[in-house]
Amino acid sequence: MPARPLNTPLAEIAATRRETLKGLLGGTALALLPAAPALAVGTAEDPSSLTFVQPEHVIGDDHKVAPGHRAQVLIRWGDTVESGAPAFDPATQTPAAQERQFGYNNDFVAFLPLPVGSNNSDHGLLCVNHEYTNAELMFPGITLKSKVEAMTREQVDVEIAAHGHAVVEVRRDGADWTVVPDSPFNRRISALTTPMAVSGPAAGHDRLKTKADPTGRSVIGTLNNCAGGVTPWGTVLIAEENIDTYFSGSAKGTAEEGNHERMGIKGKSRYAWSRFHDRFDVTKELNEPNRFGWVVEIDPYDPTFVPVKRTALGRFKHEAANTVLLEDGRVVVYCGDDEVFEYLYRFVTRGKVDRRNRLANLGLLDEGVLSVARFDQDGGLTWLPLVHGRGPLTAANGFHSQADVVIEARRAADLVGATPMDRPEDVEANPANGRVYVMLTNNSQRKPEQVGGPHPRAKNAHGHVVELIPPGAGKGRMGRHDADRFRWDILLLAGRAEDGARYHPLNDRFGVWMSSPDNCAFDNRGRLWISSDQGSNQRRNGIPDGMYACDVDGRGRALLKLFYACPRDAEMCGPAFTPDNRTLFVAVQHPGEDKDSTFDDPSTRWPDFRPGMPPRPAVVAITRADDRPVGG
Ligand code: FEO
Ligand code: CA
Ligand code: CA
Repeated sequence: MPARPLNTPLAEIAATRRETLKGLLGGTALALLPAAPALAVGTAEDPSSLTFVQPEHVIGDDHKVAPGHRAQVLIRWGDTVESGAPAFDPATQTPAAQERQFGYNNDFVAFLPLPVGSNNSDHGLLCVNHEYTNAELMFPGITLKSKVEAMTREQVDVEIAAHGHAVVEVRRDGADWTVVPDSPFNRRISALTTPMAVSGPAAGHDRLKTKADPTGRSVIGTLNNCAGGVTPWGTVLIAEENIDTYFSGSAKGTAEEGNHERMGIKGKSRYAWSRFHDRFDVTKELNEPNRFGWVVEIDPYDPTFVPVKRTALGRFKHEAANTVLLEDGRVVVYCGDDEVFEYLYRFVTRGKVDRRNRLANLGLLDEGVLSVARFDQDGGLTWLPLVHGRGPLTAANGFHSQADVVIEARRAADLVGATPMDRPEDVEANPANGRVYVMLTNNSQRKPEQVGGPHPRAKNAHGHVVELIPPGAGKGRMGRHDADRFRWDILLLAGRAEDGARYHPLNDRFGVWMSSPDNCAFDNRGRLWISSDQGSNQRRNGIPDGMYACDVDGRGRALLKLFYACPRDAEMCGPAFTPDNRTLFVAVQHPGEDKDSTFDDPSTRWPDFRPGMPPRPAVVAITRADDRPVGG
């Protein structure tokens, strides 16, 4: 019998099986047939190279990991980062303490080995984004409904300080990971006080100038850092995503009206910040939003480094920023814009990496070509350059310079004809096969007439994973990531069979499914690890968010397995492997986030489970009991 084509839709498999059986038994007997027996993972029947046994796929108070693995809570919201931080006490939070403690809602995680340039897997710097805050879970007496009006200045400043990034030195001794106390590397970068520089085409432009910064080159803080990436020279890129949520007021009737509306700034903020800080009220400081929505570069090996907002990479709701080093030394950065019907971007540097002097590379991301993806129905993809003066990107359309193009990258992308997508989140190239994996979280607003190409489903409630294939990519070959034309394919469609899901034909027999792929990582064998973020759909879907993994090649392609399940109402972020794959770091974000869950009555108290202690977002280090690479 010829091998069944990979990725055959489940419905087709079921139909084939039923047809065969119908012939044998006649139609009426069919209903009496038992369901296919569950497949045991790791048996001869299982074509996946991933041999771990799945944990229970149910929502619970605690997290769960594949048997034979250990999930150690390494660092939680409020734990000490910079020396001198007071011990965490939720009853006595202050902005000054929070600025030295681990921030809220850890998202992106990177592990950078120590010493710099080494492949050390037992000692390094953990670089972690703190994306946003849940005031209703951080402070007593605050609810989702009351927070904008009820919060005090002190509480607001704790929130602002809990945003940003943390760098901590970590070390593995035996089975345990620990944060090195008082390390000179340990650093909190916050939205409250950390100065950032601005570089690239928009630096110093009038549209970035404010009363506090008439130069347009110096910003306090970074906001809503979702995912990120690591550069070939060992710096970290962090991506400012939903920056609109912090701003109140309308820009109606001003020159920024269209720009601010396109980014979602229309009046109400989700936060109380503008009550105490004028810069978050656009009626008082029109240009402040233009100073956010960028990719920020940080050198974690230098605790005095001033983070830089790299404006050449464009301004939108950046999910991540993952790099590929080209053979000639230039660098490609892939970025998704995580909102329904937004776009996928690529930046190619003009300059080349200096391999002998890492600091010489710090300006590389300031010059190059930003492009946006147009997908064609025939499986092709074209990268459309967003360059001032080319095509419609001229003064006639309000683009007077490249600064205008990058500040309004979304509008520029509209005009050149980019393909509106189903929330592009993480976008990352697989070193094993050169393909770029695009996590498309979901898009329930896609209408039947908008179906086609890489978006095969209307009302795409569960999202999917698309592969981009540069020319020349293949087993062990990265291919030409700077090419103008790629091809694309679909790896999997998430959801259940009744949602039109498509995984490996055997997937239903493992009894696992996922919704809303968000971030990803590859292990050393090129297997894809996917974290999920169902948002407020988690309870409706009835499954926890977590880490899933699958092969991308061979007989196990798209055979999805659950590796780790988050505690209740959390989403899964991170993920980051050590170079030897013996540790996988994951970030548990917003445990206990639900409309009725509060500090006083949270839906879980993970990970401490102590009376009076609210749930705490935390980074978890996963290792294997036998010390082999995680996942098998
Ligand atoms: Fe912050 Fe797109 O997830
Ligand atoms: Ca994300
Ligand atoms: Ca997310």
